[in-house]
Amino acid sequence: IRVFVPRDSAALAVGADEVAARIAALAPAEVEIVRNGSRGMLWLEPLVEVETPLGRVAYGPVAPGDVPSLIEAGFLQGDEHPLLVGITDRLPWLKSQERLTFARVGITDPLSLADYEAHGGLAGWRQAQSLPPAAIVQQVLDSGLRGRGGAAFPAGIKWQTVAAAQAPQKYVVCNADEGDSGTYADRMLMEGDPFLLIEGMAIAGLATGATRGYVYVRSEYPHAIATLREAVASARGAGLLGPHFELEVRKAAGSYVCGEETAMLESLEGRRGIVRAKPPLPALQGLFGQPTVINNVLTFAAVPTVLAKGPLAYRDFGMGRSRGTLPFQLAGNVRRGGLVEKAFGVTLRELMFDYGGGTASGRPLKAAQVGGPLGAYLPESQWDLPLDYEAYAAVGAVVGHGGIVMHDDRADMARLARYAMEFCAIESCGKCTPCRIGSTRGVEVVDRIAAADPQLRPQQVKLLRDLCDTMLHGSLCAMGGMTPYPVLSALNHYPEDFGIAAPGRA
Ligand code: NAI
Ligand code: SF4
Repeated sequence: IRVFVPRDSAALAVGADEVAARIAALAPAEVEIVRNGSRGMLWLEPLVEVETPLGRVAYGPVAPGDVPSLIEAGFLQGDEHPLLVGITDRLPWLKSQERLTFARVGITDPLSLADYEAHGGLAGWRQAQSLPPAAIVQQVLDSGLRGRGGAAFPAGIKWQTVAAAQAPQKYVVCNADEGDSGTYADRMLMEGDPFLLIEGMAIAGLATGATRGYVYVRSEYPHAIATLREAVASARGAGLLGPHFELEVRKAAGSYVCGEETAMLESLEGRRGIVRAKPPLPALQGLFGQPTVINNVLTFAAVPTVLAKGPLAYRDFGMGRSRGTLPFQLAGNVRRGGLVEKAFGVTLRELMFDYGGGTASGRPLKAAQVGGPLGAYLPESQWDLPLDYEAYAAVGAVVGHGGIVMHDDRADMARLARYAMEFCAIESCGKCTPCRIGSTRGVEVVDRIAAADPQLRPQQVKLLRDLCDTMLHGSLCAMGGMTPYPVLSALNHYPEDFGIAAPGRA
Protein backbone atom coordinates (compact mmCIF):
# COMPACT_ATOMS: atom_id res chain seq x y z
CA ILE A 1 0.00 0.00 0.00
CA ARG A 2 1.34 3.42 -0.95
CA VAL A 3 0.40 6.53 1.01
CA PHE A 4 1.28 9.99 -0.29
CA VAL A 5 2.11 12.87 2.08
CA PRO A 6 3.35 16.04 0.37
CA ARG A 7 6.82 17.45 1.01
CA ASP A 8 5.88 20.84 -0.49
CA SER A 9 6.63 23.83 1.78
CA ALA A 10 2.92 24.73 1.95
CA ALA A 11 2.18 21.27 3.36
CA LEU A 12 5.22 21.27 5.65
CA ALA A 13 4.11 24.61 7.08
CA VAL A 14 0.90 23.01 8.32
CA GLY A 15 2.46 19.85 9.73
CA ALA A 16 2.98 17.37 6.86
CA ASP A 17 6.21 15.98 8.39
CA GLU A 18 4.45 15.20 11.67
CA VAL A 19 1.57 13.57 9.79
CA ALA A 20 4.00 11.41 7.78
CA ALA A 21 5.85 10.41 10.98
CA ARG A 22 2.58 9.51 12.69
CA ILE A 23 1.44 7.36 9.77
CA ALA A 24 4.85 5.62 9.70
CA ALA A 25 4.57 4.88 13.41
CA LEU A 26 0.99 3.57 13.36
CA ALA A 27 0.52 1.93 9.94
CA PRO A 28 1.49 -1.69 9.19
CA ALA A 29 5.07 -2.22 8.01
CA GLU A 30 4.10 -2.91 4.39
CA VAL A 31 2.80 0.64 3.97
CA GLU A 32 5.17 2.74 1.89
CA ILE A 33 5.08 6.50 2.42
CA VAL A 34 5.85 8.57 -0.68
CA ARG A 35 6.62 12.26 -0.17
CA ASN A 36 5.06 13.84 -3.25
CA GLY A 37 4.61 17.45 -4.35
CA SER A 38 1.40 19.34 -3.62
CA ARG A 39 -1.70 18.94 -5.79
CA GLY A 40 -2.20 22.67 -5.29
CA MET A 41 -5.37 22.45 -3.18
CA LEU A 42 -3.71 24.39 -0.41
CA TRP A 43 -6.79 24.67 1.81
CA LEU A 44 -6.73 20.87 2.12
CA GLU A 45 -3.05 20.54 3.09
CA PRO A 46 -1.72 18.31 4.45
CA LEU A 47 -3.60 16.28 1.85
CA VAL A 48 -2.94 12.60 2.38
CA GLU A 49 -3.66 10.20 -0.48
CA VAL A 50 -3.89 6.41 -0.54
CA GLU A 51 -3.53 4.25 -3.65
CA THR A 52 -6.61 2.04 -4.16
CA PRO A 53 -7.89 -0.04 -7.10
CA LEU A 54 -10.24 2.88 -7.92
CA GLY A 55 -7.41 5.40 -8.03
CA ARG A 56 -5.87 7.61 -5.39
CA VAL A 57 -8.24 8.58 -2.59
CA ALA A 58 -7.65 11.89 -0.78
CA TYR A 59 -8.14 12.94 2.84
CA GLY A 60 -7.54 16.40 4.17
CA PRO A 61 -6.63 18.57 5.88
CA VAL A 62 -5.05 15.91 8.08
CA ALA A 63 -3.61 16.85 11.48
CA PRO A 64 -1.23 14.45 13.25
CA GLY A 65 -3.98 13.76 15.79
CA ASP A 66 -6.32 12.55 13.01
CA VAL A 67 -4.05 9.65 12.04
CA PRO A 68 -5.29 7.07 14.62
CA SER A 69 -8.93 7.62 13.65
CA LEU A 70 -8.06 7.47 9.94
CA ILE A 71 -6.34 4.14 10.41
CA GLU A 72 -9.20 2.84 12.50
CA ALA A 73 -11.72 3.88 9.84
CA GLY A 74 -9.75 1.96 7.19
CA PHE A 75 -8.32 4.89 5.22
CA LEU A 76 -5.57 2.57 3.99
CA GLN A 77 -8.30 0.90 1.91
CA GLY A 78 -9.85 4.25 0.94
CA ASP A 79 -12.77 3.92 3.35
CA GLU A 80 -15.15 6.56 4.68
CA HIS A 81 -13.95 9.15 7.21
CA PRO A 82 -15.03 12.74 7.95
CA LEU A 83 -11.82 13.97 6.26
CA LEU A 84 -12.45 11.98 3.06
CA VAL A 85 -12.32 14.32 0.06
CA GLY A 86 -12.84 11.76 -2.71
CA ILE A 87 -11.00 10.13 -5.59
CA THR A 88 -8.39 12.75 -6.34
CA ASP A 89 -8.46 12.61 -10.13
CA ARG A 90 -12.24 13.01 -10.17
CA LEU A 91 -12.35 16.17 -8.05
CA PRO A 92 -13.88 18.88 -10.28
CA TRP A 93 -11.35 21.43 -8.97
CA LEU A 94 -8.52 19.38 -10.48
CA LYS A 95 -10.31 17.67 -13.35
CA SER A 96 -11.38 20.92 -15.00
CA GLN A 97 -7.83 22.29 -15.10
CA GLU A 98 -5.53 22.11 -18.10
CA ARG A 99 -2.37 20.91 -16.43
CA LEU A 100 0.47 20.77 -18.93
CA THR A 101 3.32 22.20 -16.82
CA PHE A 102 1.93 20.84 -13.55
CA ALA A 103 0.90 17.51 -15.07
CA ARG A 104 3.10 15.49 -12.71
CA VAL A 105 3.19 17.74 -9.64
CA GLY A 106 1.58 15.99 -6.69
CA ILE A 107 1.47 12.70 -8.57
CA THR A 108 5.09 11.57 -8.64
CA ASP A 109 7.92 11.37 -6.15
CA PRO A 110 9.78 14.57 -7.13
CA LEU A 111 13.19 12.99 -6.61
CA SER A 112 12.62 9.71 -8.42
CA LEU A 113 13.96 9.88 -11.96
CA ALA A 114 12.30 6.51 -12.67
CA ASP A 115 8.91 7.93 -11.61
CA TYR A 116 9.59 11.02 -13.74
CA GLU A 117 10.25 8.88 -16.82
CA ALA A 118 7.31 6.59 -16.12
CA HIS A 119 5.06 9.68 -16.25
CA GLY A 120 6.36 11.04 -19.55
CA GLY A 121 9.52 12.78 -18.33
CA LEU A 122 12.58 13.04 -20.62
CA ALA A 123 10.48 12.62 -23.79
CA GLY A 124 11.16 16.26 -24.71
CA TRP A 125 14.88 15.86 -24.07
CA ARG A 126 15.05 12.79 -26.34
CA GLN A 127 13.14 14.58 -29.06
CA ALA A 128 15.49 17.58 -28.76
CA GLN A 129 18.55 15.34 -29.06
CA SER A 130 17.26 14.06 -32.37
CA LEU A 131 16.94 17.58 -33.81
CA PRO A 132 19.49 20.14 -35.01
CA PRO A 133 19.64 23.19 -32.66
CA ALA A 134 17.86 25.48 -35.10
CA ALA A 135 14.93 23.05 -35.29
CA ILE A 136 14.56 23.08 -31.48
CA VAL A 137 14.45 26.88 -31.52
CA GLN A 138 11.89 26.72 -34.34
CA GLN A 139 9.65 24.46 -32.26
CA VAL A 140 9.76 26.90 -29.34
CA LEU A 141 8.96 29.74 -31.78
CA ASP A 142 6.09 27.77 -33.32
CA SER A 143 4.60 26.96 -29.92
CA GLY A 144 4.03 30.67 -29.29
CA LEU A 145 5.55 30.30 -25.80
CA ARG A 146 6.16 33.69 -24.16
CA GLY A 147 8.18 34.46 -21.04
CA ARG A 148 6.24 33.40 -17.96
CA GLY A 149 8.13 35.64 -15.51
CA GLY A 150 5.83 38.49 -16.37
CA ALA A 151 7.18 40.35 -19.38
CA ALA A 152 5.82 37.79 -21.91
CA PHE A 153 8.65 38.22 -24.42
CA PRO A 154 8.60 35.39 -27.04
CA ALA A 155 10.94 32.68 -25.71
CA GLY A 156 11.87 31.46 -29.20
CA ILE A 157 13.12 34.89 -30.29
CA LYS A 158 15.27 35.15 -27.17
CA TRP A 159 16.73 31.68 -27.82
CA GLN A 160 17.31 32.54 -31.46
CA THR A 161 19.32 35.64 -30.45
CA VAL A 162 21.54 33.58 -28.14
CA ALA A 163 21.90 30.74 -30.67
CA ALA A 164 23.04 33.18 -33.37
CA ALA A 165 25.60 34.92 -31.11
CA GLN A 166 29.24 33.83 -31.45
CA ALA A 167 31.08 33.48 -28.14
CA PRO A 168 33.50 31.12 -26.39
CA GLN A 169 30.98 30.45 -23.62
CA LYS A 170 27.21 30.84 -23.43
CA TYR A 171 24.95 30.45 -20.41
CA VAL A 172 21.42 29.48 -19.48
CA VAL A 173 20.10 31.17 -16.34
CA CYS A 174 16.83 30.36 -14.68
CA ASN A 175 15.24 33.21 -12.77
CA ALA A 176 13.70 31.52 -9.73
CA ASP A 177 13.76 34.63 -7.53
CA GLU A 178 9.97 34.48 -7.30
CA GLY A 179 9.37 37.74 -5.44
CA ASP A 180 5.80 38.65 -6.35
CA SER A 181 3.37 38.71 -3.47
CA GLY A 182 0.87 35.86 -3.67
CA THR A 183 2.92 33.78 -6.12
CA TYR A 184 4.27 30.31 -5.50
CA ALA A 185 4.10 28.43 -8.82
CA ASP A 186 7.87 28.47 -9.30
CA ARG A 187 8.41 27.14 -5.80
CA MET A 188 5.78 24.41 -6.18
CA LEU A 189 7.33 23.29 -9.44
CA MET A 190 10.88 23.21 -8.10
CA GLU A 191 9.74 21.25 -5.06
CA GLY A 192 7.22 19.06 -6.88
CA ASP A 193 8.85 18.30 -10.26
CA PRO A 194 12.46 19.56 -10.30
CA PHE A 195 13.52 17.31 -13.21
CA LEU A 196 11.11 19.17 -15.48
CA LEU A 197 12.97 22.44 -14.92
CA ILE A 198 16.33 20.72 -15.38
CA GLU A 199 15.09 19.09 -18.60
CA GLY A 200 13.86 22.43 -19.96
CA MET A 201 17.18 24.12 -19.18
CA ALA A 202 19.17 21.26 -20.74
CA ILE A 203 17.07 21.62 -23.90
CA ALA A 204 17.81 25.38 -23.89
CA GLY A 205 21.52 24.48 -23.69
CA LEU A 206 21.23 22.17 -26.71
CA ALA A 207 19.27 24.74 -28.69
CA THR A 208 21.61 27.68 -28.08
CA GLY A 209 25.03 26.05 -27.63
CA ALA A 210 25.23 27.00 -23.94
CA THR A 211 27.11 24.52 -21.78
CA ARG A 212 26.65 26.02 -18.34
CA GLY A 213 23.54 26.87 -16.43
CA TYR A 214 22.50 28.46 -13.15
CA VAL A 215 19.26 28.43 -11.23
CA TYR A 216 18.98 31.58 -9.11
CA VAL A 217 16.55 30.57 -6.35
CA ARG A 218 14.95 32.92 -3.83
CA SER A 219 16.73 32.65 -0.48
CA GLU A 220 13.39 32.22 1.30
CA TYR A 221 12.95 28.88 -0.52
CA PRO A 222 15.24 26.48 1.39
CA HIS A 223 13.18 23.40 0.49
CA ALA A 224 13.20 24.24 -3.21
CA ILE A 225 16.97 24.75 -3.10
CA ALA A 226 17.56 21.42 -1.34
CA THR A 227 15.22 19.52 -3.67
CA LEU A 228 16.79 21.03 -6.78
CA ARG A 229 20.31 20.26 -5.59
CA GLU A 230 19.39 16.62 -5.02
CA ALA A 231 17.69 16.45 -8.41
CA VAL A 232 20.74 17.99 -10.12
CA ALA A 233 22.95 15.26 -8.63
CA SER A 234 20.62 12.51 -9.92
CA ALA A 235 20.31 14.15 -13.35
CA ARG A 236 24.10 14.14 -13.61
CA GLY A 237 24.17 10.42 -12.86
CA ALA A 238 21.54 9.80 -15.53
CA GLY A 239 23.33 11.77 -18.26
CA LEU A 240 20.78 14.61 -18.54
CA LEU A 241 23.49 16.86 -17.13
CA GLY A 242 27.22 16.39 -17.63
CA PRO A 243 30.09 17.98 -19.55
CA HIS A 244 27.62 18.96 -22.30
CA PHE A 245 25.62 20.98 -19.77
CA GLU A 246 26.62 21.65 -16.16
CA LEU A 247 24.03 23.13 -13.81
CA GLU A 248 24.50 24.92 -10.50
CA VAL A 249 21.85 25.99 -8.00
CA ARG A 250 22.53 29.39 -6.40
CA LYS A 251 20.80 30.90 -3.38
CA ALA A 252 19.62 34.44 -4.17
CA ALA A 253 20.53 37.56 -2.23
CA GLY A 254 17.15 38.24 -0.64
CA SER A 255 16.16 41.42 -2.46
CA TYR A 256 13.10 41.94 -4.68
CA VAL A 257 15.05 43.78 -7.35
CA CYS A 258 17.43 40.82 -7.77
CA GLY A 259 14.54 39.27 -9.72
CA GLU A 260 15.13 41.93 -12.38
CA GLU A 261 17.28 40.11 -14.89
CA THR A 262 20.32 42.40 -14.97
CA ALA A 263 20.40 42.85 -11.18
CA MET A 264 20.25 39.05 -10.97
CA LEU A 265 23.29 38.79 -13.26
CA GLU A 266 25.18 41.25 -11.03
CA SER A 267 24.25 39.16 -8.02
CA LEU A 268 25.30 35.90 -9.74
CA GLU A 269 28.66 37.51 -10.56
CA GLY A 270 29.12 38.26 -6.87
CA ARG A 271 28.22 41.96 -6.77
CA ARG A 272 25.38 43.99 -5.27
CA GLY A 273 22.10 43.52 -7.10
CA ILE A 274 21.93 46.82 -8.97
CA VAL A 275 20.12 47.10 -12.28
CA ARG A 276 22.26 47.44 -15.43
CA ALA A 277 21.09 49.63 -18.27
CA LYS A 278 19.87 47.75 -21.37
CA PRO A 279 21.15 47.51 -24.10
CA PRO A 280 23.25 45.47 -24.22
CA LEU A 281 20.62 42.76 -23.92
CA PRO A 282 21.56 39.80 -21.72
CA ALA A 283 20.88 37.60 -24.75
CA LEU A 284 24.01 39.15 -26.30
CA GLN A 285 26.03 40.24 -23.26
CA GLY A 286 24.68 38.60 -20.15
CA LEU A 287 26.41 36.61 -17.44
CA PHE A 288 30.14 37.46 -17.37
CA GLY A 289 29.51 39.45 -20.55
CA GLN A 290 28.55 36.33 -22.53
CA PRO A 291 25.34 35.52 -24.45
CA THR A 292 22.80 34.27 -21.91
CA VAL A 293 19.31 32.79 -22.11
CA ILE A 294 17.39 34.07 -19.08
CA ASN A 295 13.94 32.66 -18.49
CA ASN A 296 11.62 32.12 -15.58
CA VAL A 297 11.06 28.63 -14.06
CA LEU A 298 7.67 28.23 -15.76
CA THR A 299 9.06 29.15 -19.20
CA PHE A 300 11.76 26.47 -19.05
CA ALA A 301 9.26 24.03 -17.54
CA ALA A 302 6.90 24.48 -20.51
CA VAL A 303 9.59 23.56 -23.04
CA PRO A 304 9.73 19.75 -22.52
CA THR A 305 5.97 19.62 -23.21
CA VAL A 306 6.42 21.66 -26.39
CA LEU A 307 9.07 19.22 -27.64
CA ALA A 308 7.31 16.06 -26.45
CA LYS A 309 3.80 16.86 -27.66
CA GLY A 310 4.74 19.12 -30.57
CA PRO A 311 4.51 22.92 -30.80
CA LEU A 312 1.08 22.89 -32.39
CA ALA A 313 -0.43 20.83 -29.58
CA TYR A 314 0.86 23.45 -27.11
CA ARG A 315 -0.29 26.30 -29.31
CA ASP A 316 -3.79 24.85 -29.41
CA PHE A 317 -4.33 26.13 -25.88
CA GLY A 318 -4.90 29.82 -25.27
CA MET A 319 -6.17 32.80 -27.23
CA GLY A 320 -4.80 35.58 -29.43
CA ARG A 321 -1.07 35.91 -28.95
CA SER A 322 -1.20 34.31 -25.49
CA ARG A 323 -0.67 30.64 -26.25
CA GLY A 324 -0.54 27.64 -23.94
CA THR A 325 -1.42 27.62 -20.28
CA LEU A 326 -0.54 29.65 -17.20
CA PRO A 327 -0.44 28.26 -13.66
CA PHE A 328 -2.50 30.87 -11.80
CA GLN A 329 -2.04 31.27 -8.07
CA LEU A 330 -4.94 32.27 -5.83
CA ALA A 331 -3.99 34.04 -2.62
CA GLY A 332 -5.07 36.71 -0.15
CA ASN A 333 -8.64 36.68 1.12
CA VAL A 334 -9.74 33.49 -0.65
CA ARG A 335 -11.69 30.49 0.58
CA ARG A 336 -9.93 27.89 -1.55
CA GLY A 337 -6.46 29.20 -2.28
CA GLY A 338 -4.25 27.20 -4.59
CA LEU A 339 -2.73 26.58 -7.97
CA VAL A 340 -5.00 26.51 -11.01
CA GLU A 341 -3.38 25.84 -14.38
CA LYS A 342 -5.64 26.96 -17.21
CA ALA A 343 -5.27 28.00 -20.82
CA PHE A 344 -5.14 31.76 -21.40
CA GLY A 345 -8.62 33.15 -21.90
CA VAL A 346 -10.05 32.07 -18.54
CA THR A 347 -11.52 34.99 -16.60
CA LEU A 348 -10.69 36.33 -13.19
CA ARG A 349 -14.28 35.68 -12.10
CA GLU A 350 -13.99 31.98 -12.98
CA LEU A 351 -10.71 31.70 -11.11
CA MET A 352 -11.79 33.63 -8.03
CA PHE A 353 -15.27 32.17 -7.66
CA ASP A 354 -15.47 28.78 -9.46
CA TYR A 355 -12.05 27.73 -8.16
CA GLY A 356 -11.41 30.11 -5.26
CA GLY A 357 -14.94 29.96 -3.86
CA GLY A 358 -14.95 33.71 -3.15
CA THR A 359 -13.47 35.32 -0.07
CA ALA A 360 -12.38 33.45 3.04
CA SER A 361 -14.12 36.08 5.15
CA GLY A 362 -17.42 35.47 3.34
CA ARG A 363 -17.69 39.22 2.70
CA PRO A 364 -18.10 40.74 -0.77
CA LEU A 365 -14.98 40.77 -2.90
CA LYS A 366 -13.80 44.29 -3.64
CA ALA A 367 -10.57 44.10 -5.64
CA ALA A 368 -8.05 41.66 -7.05
CA GLN A 369 -4.44 42.52 -7.61
CA VAL A 370 -3.12 40.52 -10.55
CA GLY A 371 0.58 40.16 -11.39
CA GLY A 372 2.32 40.85 -8.10
CA PRO A 373 2.86 43.96 -5.98
CA LEU A 374 3.41 46.06 -9.10
CA GLY A 375 0.26 44.80 -10.81
CA ALA A 376 -3.00 46.73 -11.13
CA TYR A 377 -6.06 46.33 -8.88
CA LEU A 378 -9.02 45.11 -10.89
CA PRO A 379 -12.59 46.10 -9.92
CA GLU A 380 -15.62 43.93 -10.60
CA SER A 381 -16.22 45.57 -14.00
CA GLN A 382 -12.98 43.91 -15.22
CA TRP A 383 -13.41 40.43 -13.75
CA ASP A 384 -14.90 39.07 -16.99
CA LEU A 385 -11.99 40.12 -19.20
CA PRO A 386 -10.17 37.11 -20.65
CA LEU A 387 -6.78 36.60 -19.07
CA ASP A 388 -4.67 37.43 -22.07
CA TYR A 389 -1.57 39.64 -22.13
CA GLU A 390 -3.00 42.06 -24.71
CA ALA A 391 -6.51 42.28 -23.21
CA TYR A 392 -5.00 43.13 -19.82
CA ALA A 393 -2.54 45.65 -21.26
CA ALA A 394 -5.46 47.42 -22.95
CA VAL A 395 -6.98 48.28 -19.54
CA GLY A 396 -3.68 49.23 -17.88
CA ALA A 397 -3.30 45.88 -16.09
CA VAL A 398 -0.79 43.02 -16.30
CA VAL A 399 -1.12 39.24 -16.20
CA GLY A 400 2.45 39.03 -14.89
CA HIS A 401 3.41 35.76 -13.30
CA GLY A 402 -0.22 34.78 -12.70
CA GLY A 403 -0.49 35.74 -9.03
CA ILE A 404 -3.96 36.84 -7.90
CA VAL A 405 -4.38 38.46 -4.47
CA MET A 406 -7.99 39.00 -3.39
CA HIS A 407 -9.32 41.71 -1.05
CA ASP A 408 -12.79 41.99 0.50
CA ASP A 409 -14.90 45.13 0.97
CA ARG A 410 -12.92 46.18 4.05
CA ALA A 411 -9.82 46.94 1.97
CA ASP A 412 -8.81 50.60 1.97
CA MET A 413 -7.47 51.16 -1.53
CA ALA A 414 -5.71 54.41 -0.61
CA ARG A 415 -3.76 52.50 2.04
CA LEU A 416 -2.89 49.83 -0.55
CA ALA A 417 -1.72 52.54 -2.97
CA ARG A 418 0.46 53.96 -0.21
CA TYR A 419 1.81 50.47 0.39
CA ALA A 420 2.83 50.15 -3.28
CA MET A 421 4.86 53.36 -3.04
CA GLU A 422 6.36 52.28 0.28
CA PHE A 423 7.28 48.85 -1.14
CA CYS A 424 9.05 50.56 -4.04
CA ALA A 425 10.90 52.89 -1.66
CA ILE A 426 12.13 49.93 0.40
CA GLU A 427 13.07 47.70 -2.54
CA SER A 428 14.45 50.33 -4.96
CA CYS A 429 18.05 49.64 -5.96
CA GLY A 430 18.60 53.39 -6.02
CA LYS A 431 20.11 53.64 -9.47
CA CYS A 432 17.58 56.00 -11.02
CA THR A 433 15.85 59.08 -9.61
CA PRO A 434 12.18 58.55 -10.56
CA CYS A 435 12.12 55.35 -8.54
CA ARG A 436 14.51 56.20 -5.71
CA ILE A 437 13.07 59.65 -4.92
CA GLY A 438 9.66 59.29 -6.57
CA SER A 439 8.57 56.41 -4.38
CA THR A 440 9.32 58.31 -1.15
CA ARG A 441 7.53 61.40 -2.46
CA GLY A 442 4.68 59.09 -3.47
CA VAL A 443 4.18 57.89 0.11
CA GLU A 444 4.10 61.52 1.28
CA VAL A 445 1.58 62.60 -1.35
CA VAL A 446 -0.80 59.72 -0.54
CA ASP A 447 -0.56 60.74 3.13
CA ARG A 448 -1.27 64.34 2.23
CA ILE A 449 -4.34 63.33 0.20
CA ALA A 450 -5.69 61.53 3.25
CA ALA A 451 -4.99 64.48 5.58
CA ALA A 452 -5.97 67.29 3.19
CA ASP A 453 -8.96 69.53 3.35
CA PRO A 454 -11.41 68.06 0.77
CA GLN A 455 -11.09 71.31 -1.22
CA LEU A 456 -7.35 70.79 -1.63
CA ARG A 457 -7.45 67.07 -2.42
CA PRO A 458 -7.82 67.37 -6.23
CA GLN A 459 -4.57 69.34 -6.32
CA GLN A 460 -2.72 66.60 -4.42
CA VAL A 461 -4.29 63.92 -6.61
CA LYS A 462 -2.99 65.75 -9.67
CA LEU A 463 0.46 65.76 -8.10
CA LEU A 464 0.22 62.00 -7.51
CA ARG A 465 -0.77 61.45 -11.14
CA ASP A 466 2.14 63.57 -12.35
CA LEU A 467 4.52 61.65 -10.15
CA CYS A 468 3.18 58.33 -11.48
CA ASP A 469 3.65 59.60 -15.00
CA THR A 470 7.31 60.41 -14.30
CA MET A 471 7.90 57.00 -12.70
CA LEU A 472 6.15 55.16 -15.55
CA HIS A 473 8.17 56.82 -18.26
CA GLY A 474 11.44 57.69 -16.56
CA SER A 475 12.39 54.58 -14.55
CA LEU A 476 15.18 52.32 -15.67
CA CYS A 477 13.40 49.05 -14.82
CA ALA A 478 9.99 47.60 -13.98
CA MET A 479 10.38 48.30 -10.25
CA GLY A 480 9.86 52.05 -10.58
CA GLY A 481 8.17 51.72 -13.95
CA MET A 482 5.32 49.55 -12.71
CA THR A 483 4.71 50.90 -9.20
CA PRO A 484 2.19 53.36 -10.70
CA TYR A 485 -0.01 50.43 -11.85
CA PRO A 486 -1.43 49.59 -8.42
CA VAL A 487 -1.48 53.29 -7.45
CA LEU A 488 -3.32 54.55 -10.54
CA SER A 489 -5.74 51.61 -10.68
CA ALA A 490 -6.67 52.19 -7.03
CA LEU A 491 -7.16 55.89 -7.73
CA ASN A 492 -9.15 55.35 -10.93
CA HIS A 493 -11.45 52.57 -9.73
CA TYR A 494 -11.87 53.42 -6.05
CA PRO A 495 -11.72 57.27 -5.87
CA GLU A 496 -14.02 57.28 -2.84
CA ASP A 497 -11.25 55.61 -0.80
CA PHE A 498 -9.10 58.68 -1.50
CA GLY A 499 -11.92 60.96 -0.42
CA ILE A 500 -12.52 62.24 -3.93
CA ALA A 501 -15.51 61.95 -6.22
CA ALA A 502 -15.44 59.54 -9.15
CA PRO A 503 -14.72 61.22 -12.50
CA GLY A 504 -17.95 62.55 -13.93
CA ARG A 505 -19.59 62.64 -10.50
CA ALA A 506 -17.84 65.78 -9.23
P1 NAI B 1 11.51 43.56 -20.58
O1 NAI B 1 10.28 43.83 -21.37
O2 NAI B 1 12.59 44.57 -20.52
O3 NAI B 1 12.21 42.25 -21.19
C1 NAI B 1 11.63 41.05 -21.38
C2 NAI B 1 12.67 40.03 -21.71
O4 NAI B 1 12.95 39.99 -23.10
C3 NAI B 1 14.03 40.28 -21.06
O5 NAI B 1 14.58 39.04 -20.72
C4 NAI B 1 14.82 40.94 -22.17
O6 NAI B 1 16.20 40.79 -22.01
C5 NAI B 1 14.32 40.20 -23.36
N1 NAI B 1 14.43 40.87 -24.66
C6 NAI B 1 13.87 42.05 -25.02
N2 NAI B 1 14.14 42.31 -26.32
C7 NAI B 1 14.89 41.28 -26.79
C8 NAI B 1 15.45 40.94 -28.07
N3 NAI B 1 15.31 41.74 -29.12
N4 NAI B 1 16.13 39.79 -28.18
C9 NAI B 1 16.26 38.96 -27.13
N5 NAI B 1 15.74 39.21 -25.90
C10 NAI B 1 15.06 40.35 -25.73
O7 NAI B 1 11.02 43.15 -19.14
P2 NAI B 1 11.79 42.89 -17.77
O8 NAI B 1 12.20 44.19 -17.18
O9 NAI B 1 12.83 41.83 -17.92
O10 NAI B 1 10.65 42.25 -16.88
C11 NAI B 1 9.60 42.99 -16.38
C12 NAI B 1 8.49 42.05 -15.98
O11 NAI B 1 8.89 41.26 -14.88
C13 NAI B 1 7.22 42.73 -15.58
O12 NAI B 1 6.27 42.59 -16.60
C14 NAI B 1 6.78 42.02 -14.31
O13 NAI B 1 5.48 41.49 -14.47
C15 NAI B 1 7.76 40.92 -14.13
N6 NAI B 1 8.11 40.69 -12.73
C16 NAI B 1 8.09 39.38 -12.31
C17 NAI B 1 8.37 39.04 -10.99
C18 NAI B 1 8.28 37.60 -10.55
O14 NAI B 1 8.36 37.32 -9.33
N7 NAI B 1 8.12 36.65 -11.45
C19 NAI B 1 8.75 40.08 -10.03
C20 NAI B 1 8.76 41.40 -10.58
C21 NAI B 1 8.44 41.67 -11.89
FE1 SF4 C 1 16.75 50.64 -9.49
FE2 SF4 C 1 14.23 51.46 -9.20
FE3 SF4 C 1 15.67 52.46 -11.14
FE4 SF4 C 1 14.89 49.88 -11.23
S1 SF4 C 1 13.57 51.66 -11.35
S2 SF4 C 1 16.92 50.73 -11.71
S3 SF4 C 1 14.96 49.38 -9.02
S4 SF4 C 1 16.09 52.69 -8.94
